[in-house]
Amino acid sequence: MYASPRILSESRPALYEELLAQVRALLAGERDATANAANLAALVFHSLPDLNWAGFYWMKGGELVLGPFQGKPACVRIALGKGVCGTAAREARSIVVPDVNAFPGHIACDTASRSEVVVPVLHRERVIGVLDLDSSRPARFTDEDARGLEAVVRAFVDATELG
Ligand code: SME
Repeated sequence: MYASPRILSESRPALYEELLAQVRALLAGERDATANAANLAALVFHSLPDLNWAGFYWMKGGELVLGPFQGKPACVRIALGKGVCGTAAREARSIVVPDVNAFPGHIACDTASRSEVVVPVLHRERVIGVLDLDSSRPARFTDEDARGLEAVVRAFVDATELG
């Protein structure tokens, strides 16, 4: 059902084009938010190389709360504006962090993480959560990853009942 992890020398646009097709196929016919977010986290985690965490945080009561993910257990609540996730949510934009130790206020859920990308989940022009990917490899993520993941998140939002 999902692609095997690829070497990153493969072109990222091609990798994300394939991932996007798999996301659409995986979510087709199901609109439940928990089911789709859980399956998407699993697909991303097992399809993209060099990840040690992939998952969602949802905006609830003015803060981010842990959602479906793959990887080690993580911090449950993140205040808006805190860490990479809270900053991406507050500013409603994707953030690529080549070196997490150089990001002021980075929240180290897993000390193995060295780089990170966070993409906001936008629904009806509001940030309803974020998709967060971590890697133990420094500078694992580029702007191409952010653009590819933004398309993946849009496909999730289009396929899912989000209230
Ligand atoms: N590092 C994130 C926290 C979430 S964990 O990486 C899963 C941050 O700084 O927001």
